Amino acid sequence: MCGIVGYTGGQPAQEIVLESLKKLEYRGYDSSGIAMHEGKLVICKKEGPIANMEAELTESKSTLAIAHTRWATHGAPSDVNAHPHSDEEISIAVVHNGTIDNYLEIRESLEAEGHNFRSDSDSEILPLLISKYYSGNLVEAVNKTLDVIRGIFTIAAIHKDNPDEIVAVRNETPLVIGLGNSENFISSDIYAILKYTQEMIYPEDYQIVRVTSDKVEVLDRDLNLLDYNVETVEKYTEVAEKGGFEHYMLKEIFEQPKALQDSLTELLVESPLERLGLNWKIGSMSIVACGTSYHAGLVGKYVIEQLTAIPVSVSYSSEFRYAAPVQGVGGLLSSRPLVILISQSGETADTLAAARAAKQQGCHTIAICNVPGSRITREVDGVIITKSGQEIGVAATKTFMTQMQALYALAVNLAFNSGSLDHPQTKLWESEIRKIPSKVSQVLNNCESIRDLVPHFVKAKSVFFIGRNINYPLALEGALKLKEISYIHAEGYPAGELKHGPLALLSKDTPVVAIAVQDHTYSKLISNIEEISARKAPVITVAQKGDQLVPKISDHFFELPDIDPVLSPFPVAVFLQLLSYYIAHELGTEIDKPRNLAKSVTVE
Ligand code: G6P
Repeated sequence: MCGIVGYTGGQPAQEIVLESLKKLEYRGYDSSGIAMHEGKLVICKKEGPIANMEAELTESKSTLAIAHTRWATHGAPSDVNAHPHSDEEISIAVVHNGTIDNYLEIRESLEAEGHNFRSDSDSEILPLLISKYYSGNLVEAVNKTLDVIRGIFTIAAIHKDNPDEIVAVRNETPLVIGLGNSENFISSDIYAILKYTQEMIYPEDYQIVRVTSDKVEVLDRDLNLLDYNVETVEKYTEVAEKGGFEHYMLKEIFEQPKALQDSLTELLVESPLERLGLNWKIGSMSIVACGTSYHAGLVGKYVIEQLTAIPVSVSYSSEFRYAAPVQGVGGLLSSRPLVILISQSGETADTLAAARAAKQQGCHTIAICNVPGSRITREVDGVIITKSGQEIGVAATKTFMTQMQALYALAVNLAFNSGSLDHPQTKLWESEIRKIPSKVSQVLNNCESIRDLVPHFVKAKSVFFIGRNINYPLALEGALKLKEISYIHAEGYPAGELKHGPLALLSKDTPVVAIAVQDHTYSKLISNIEEISARKAPVITVAQKGDQLVPKISDHFFELPDIDPVLSPFPVAVFLQLLSYYIAHELGTEIDKPRNLAKSVTVE
């Protein structure tokens, strides 16, 4: 939440930071702003998307800039609450991601000292404090400020005295430093600056970083210089453009076969269990995540339990951390419990907190993550990196797909390791997993028949999604996608539960999307469809190729490619994503940036 970039070097900085900032818009888009050095500090900031601020800019020769895109916490989205904030003399400009817990008391004492605040933002105390402590050395002033503030933050500051210096520090929220050739960058993620450099430094909490065009210094709180590692990250295909698609979300949905294909090697070939340190007999497992990642975790539970018989519990991160300690088999820590944390961004505050709680309890922690080098990957015992490439649309699509794939691959590996799958069975599973990208492509090729379903939804006030067994989580995900981007109220339900409440809500204006695959729950689901039809609610069913019954009892019908029911979540997910996308498109909503949401949620 909130994105930060900075540049100092030999090039005009405005263009570079704007381009990078646009790649961080997924972190918030309530307002944006930039501060540059043109003999003096010049600040431009504007409510709304970056394009609003960009429209106000004139040409600049500044070779130093910091910029910010905001997801509002303290103070409504407005020009005045936008970052960068400055002191009264505009000698210091600061961008901030996070929240300052004790800002009210600091604000009161600064007001008592005669300072006037212009905004409602907690961040405005930062330039005032830095200015108060500044006596010619920005690093020292930032360091003194750290003595006073409590909270979570990434802060970047520039001073009018130095046109070639950014000072930055983090606590709990992301900060990466990119090393260029006589130019250096700061950013909230690697993707925003990957166009310029693949050489990254990941500072730890409370390390103060001083960035100039030819040097990066990392200092501890006693201002001693520290050694640091420079990591080279893999270059991903440039994703800044929508590649002819109207929205990033649509582009990302269509990128799913490639994302699945790219992730395969790491999952199936590179003996993941050894690398993950999973060389003991696992007695129990918890999967912990938020949002769409949580739904991937629910799918994982079905597959892992089916293949390995290891009991799996799945929790929301925000609940897991307050729950009773994780127990081993039979409530005893007879075997070290495994906790799998799923987070595409690797920065979600609740999931990070859950990872720490699990570690404190002595659990072995594994993260499934799409962002190499992100916070969670640095805190857990083992990491599975999915290779979806950057996902910009706020509503997760391709990362969900590769998270599920990672869990399937993990289940197969665990099952082979524990002897519940023999070698030929394992090979059979692997070959089925390899077919997933082509099954997904088949749904994409049939996108027009999904679009044809849109008229049955656009007037609905509420939509229900139902599924059973492994497709129950898909019902949850279908409902989440629809509400996120179309703002139509939607609920996902286990099909058997409709009769325990929601049936009361059904009418001819309440479409129900049913996922009917031919596993052992099929006949029960058919009965549920009949119950819904009897209440006159339109039923739109997604079912397997060759199903003769479903078309007869459904109002509308989408046929999945021929696939084993256990792998059906993949093509079903594509159907649900496209359905939500086309409905939202028809309704004209902001699909890539739904109101009130952000992609990376770094507040708890
Ligand atoms: C936000 C996003 C969701 C995402 C969730 C968890 O709510 O809008 O799309 O599923 O965060 O994010 P994570 O990065 O931890 O997977």
